[in-house]
Amino acid sequence: MHEVRFSSYRYSDDTLHLEGTYFKGRVQLLHKGGVRTWRVFVWHRLEDAQKGSWVMEGLEPLPFEVYDDLSCQAEGVPALKLWLDPFGFGWEGLEALELEAHRFGQLGKSGVWQTSEWTAFHEVNDGLPLGAGMSLLIKEKPERRYYGLGERTGFLDKKGRTWTNWTTDDPIHYPDADPLYQAHPFLIGLEGDRAWGVYLDETWRTVFDLASAEDHQSIIRTDGPTFDLYLIAGPSPKEVIQRYTALVGRASLPPLWALGYHQCRYSYTHQELALEIAREYRRREIPLDAVWLDIDYMDGFKVFTFSPERFPEPEKLTAALREMGVRTVTIVDPGVKKEEGYLVYEEGRAQQYFIHSYRDEELWGEVWPSPAVWPDFTRPEVREWWGRLHRFYLEHGIAGIWNDMNEPAAFTVFGQEPPKDNRTLPSSARQGNRYHAEVHNLYGYGMCQATYEGLLKFEPSKRPFVLTRSGFAGIQKYAFVWTGDNHSYWEHLEGSIPMLLNLGMSGVPFVGADIGGFSAHADGELLARWTWLGAFYPFMRNHSGKTSRRQEPWVFGPRWESAIREAIRFRYRMLPYLYTLAHETVATGLPPMRAMVLEHPHDPEVSALHDQFMWGSDLLVAPAVRPGQRHRLTYLPQGQWQDFWSGEGYEGPVHLPTATPHDRIPLFQRAGSAIPTTKAEPHTTDAYWETLVWQVSLAPEVRGWVYEDQGEGYEPGYISELEGTYDGYTLRLDFTDRCGQPRQRVEAVIRGVREPQGGHSIHHYDPQTQTLTVDLASGSAEVHW
Ligand code: GLC
Repeated sequence: MHEVRFSSYRYSDDTLHLEGTYFKGRVQLLHKGGVRTWRVFVWHRLEDAQKGSWVMEGLEPLPFEVYDDLSCQAEGVPALKLWLDPFGFGWEGLEALELEAHRFGQLGKSGVWQTSEWTAFHEVNDGLPLGAGMSLLIKEKPERRYYGLGERTGFLDKKGRTWTNWTTDDPIHYPDADPLYQAHPFLIGLEGDRAWGVYLDETWRTVFDLASAEDHQSIIRTDGPTFDLYLIAGPSPKEVIQRYTALVGRASLPPLWALGYHQCRYSYTHQELALEIAREYRRREIPLDAVWLDIDYMDGFKVFTFSPERFPEPEKLTAALREMGVRTVTIVDPGVKKEEGYLVYEEGRAQQYFIHSYRDEELWGEVWPSPAVWPDFTRPEVREWWGRLHRFYLEHGIAGIWNDMNEPAAFTVFGQEPPKDNRTLPSSARQGNRYHAEVHNLYGYGMCQATYEGLLKFEPSKRPFVLTRSGFAGIQKYAFVWTGDNHSYWEHLEGSIPMLLNLGMSGVPFVGADIGGFSAHADGELLARWTWLGAFYPFMRNHSGKTSRRQEPWVFGPRWESAIREAIRFRYRMLPYLYTLAHETVATGLPPMRAMVLEHPHDPEVSALHDQFMWGSDLLVAPAVRPGQRHRLTYLPQGQWQDFWSGEGYEGPVHLPTATPHDRIPLFQRAGSAIPTTKAEPHTTDAYWETLVWQVSLAPEVRGWVYEDQGEGYEPGYISELEGTYDGYTLRLDFTDRCGQPRQRVEAVIRGVREPQGGHSIHHYDPQTQTLTVDLASGSAEVHW
């Protein structure tokens, strides 16, 4: 173990160069799209310093001032202060004391270093060279909270545990399971209401020990020989997310249908069964946008095939579904069946596109297909080839691709079982001129990039839809993410909330968990509660496993069916708001489903609150998370709030006892907001809303907006706005409609108000529910009380 020390420094070419006996370093101020970030990059002298980034592009260095006390300053970013011997830095309340280098497999200070992955697989690991790993010690503060790190078990604040970035197919999400499928070496620290972020741009296994082994320090470690850290300024956590996503990239706008409701199962094993499911939805008047085909649609688990027995006429199937307004999505796993005469295998082998062992043999193993080989997605020509193969699906009318097992999962390799906690390829496998250990975390990312780019190439007028299980920082550019194999447990319903919120805080906005749970057996109450919660997941899909009880909305009888139907219809009514949030996400990186702490960072009451969350800035959702629950406590932060259903007003901060009936979900609207809604249709079409109903919550100023476009493709969209004033006696509303499409109905609904005395454009007042409806077809309305 060495402390990293530098003996001299020199500033040239917009870079502070650091020199020591064993190490070199570089400090730069980089910018991209108006965002400035410090980069602190340290490496062992013997290593190649030309390390690029797999996920970031277009970052340019800017000049900055270096003072004698080694503080680095520039406009628009908080100053960074360095120490040389031993190396360390201070920045924005983040004090990193030392950087240490060590050899693979050595025990770090915290004593939690894992060596088993490196020593198991003796035979195939032979070729892996030993090199220096590095760790950064961060001085801890009791009041600091941590968020981000992608998909994790546990509660909202990530402090107190050790989190590993090593994409892993772990089908049993125990409370302490870690890692799962995603790798996001990105962390937000929050102290008081001031936040900072760090992004470690290393694709090797990295470990974030957040005051877990010792209270007074956190440790960030990489197995790799370089330490490439980006410091991302706040001061608010929202700004950290905006800046971070400006660097690693943001999601593009999904097609509207992707935000509808989806039905999946492992598996709808026959063409007729898939059709029957969709017909049942239509018969029962439950909205549905997509049916998903799991691995059994394939011929012997061979990707880019359909089983001739079970899916003999895929075009007919997708066309018949399409007539009902239902899209078809197919699963595509990376494991390619190693079989003579199978075109995909033959082509890939001829071109040497598959991953090899360190002895340069084609590496084979077992996933669903056996034997299987794995494409090397780090190579552009392999991605291009894989993308091209997707023409097959598009020609059969498939609308979207579901990438699974892309950690990559391997049940065996060369006939041997990998260690139980590391069922993947050996670290010594070769990908281009790298070891698998270096790029393991990128496997899903590369696969999704290939898929996304392939889909876009063949259908340039459409927005690609890809769902993935595995991913790395920046995965949102290419795919939605779902959280893999959860169980039909109430604990997993509840746990999905902080899991998705932290994905959102890691820059991944379009996320969802399997509604109803994947493994084990759901019941009606669980499914109804989960579907209501899922109506707020940015990605809403019911999915269950092969041995689980069926869990389509109707299987638990009419009582639960009707609660579930309500939840799904509610989702469709809210699509104008959700789609507008999706549009905001593209511009800002902020997720539609967000932790309370993003909207109220100064409020200590919400910094660890995990069982309620925000939808955008204006809706607060407080689901029931336990069986038999009839009430819960909802926390309404500072400000005025209104019950979305009854219109009753509240003043926060307050802890509010809230009833949790089965046919709705506790939902509160921020006063002064106007939420665009529509009427529930059986499926989505375009995102111009013929029926547009603003739900208005009164305040001196009222404002809301809606983004509309074709719901697909790249034609421009339009933002229409509702503005208003209210002084306690008179409400004035003005609607500026920019979408240029005919509307059947534009209205505003105001709940919890007395009968008005007069005004214009008043459409209806219901004294029972105290609900007022005004007509906005003329562009304005006025109400007097
Ligand atoms: C994995 C996926 C699951 C899928 C199954 C079969 O377990 O996580 O969603 O249904 O494989 O493809």
